[in-house]
Amino acid sequence: MNGRPDGRVHAVYPGSFDPPTNGHLDVVARASAVFPIVTVAVVVNPQKRDPYFSLEERETMLRACVEPFGNVRVANFRGLLADFVKRIDADVIVKGLRVVSDFESEMAFAHMNRALSSVDTMFLMSDSAYSFVSSSLIKEVFLQGGDVAKYVPQVVLEFMEAKRLAHTGRK
Ligand code: PNS
Repeated sequence: MNGRPDGRVHAVYPGSFDPPTNGHLDVVARASAVFPIVTVAVVVNPQKRDPYFSLEERETMLRACVEPFGNVRVANFRGLLADFVKRIDADVIVKGLRVVSDFESEMAFAHMNRALSSVDTMFLMSDSAYSFVSSSLIKEVFLQGGDVAKYVPQVVLEFMEAKRLAHTGRK
């Protein structure tokens, strides 16, 4: 499948991760069990000009979360995912699917990324327990005082609490 002497398949799992959720971590765990090398790639996204967490914070949270997996690393990229995948010589893009409607847009992305880089996208279904969990919903609920502890890793919850305290003075 690839030109590496050991033939080890390298997968890239891209996203905004603003913040990482248990749904993301579920996909990381599944990818880590299937692919010998996984890079979780945080996008520097010009469309989302105002991320809640800085790129550095998102990478720090993710590094803490993926530490138990010996074959997962964290990186970031600007610009096209297809260019990043080619630059690091990865073999496959991994995306998580929560619900059928996710596939609508993901299919177009997968075709475009393959046209641009010849790299295929493989989809992993996150656990149904996370089918309604998204970073934006988590942020909305948390900022209105709701309990999101079940939906994010402990380290992420601590980052969220610290940020809310810094922004609002509220614990
Ligand atoms: O977590 P998100 O925000 O759903 O992740 C979206 C992401 C980062 C996978 C997507 O926006 C992306 O690939 N951005 C890089 C720019 C790019 O390559 N755009 C064309 C996609 S075919």
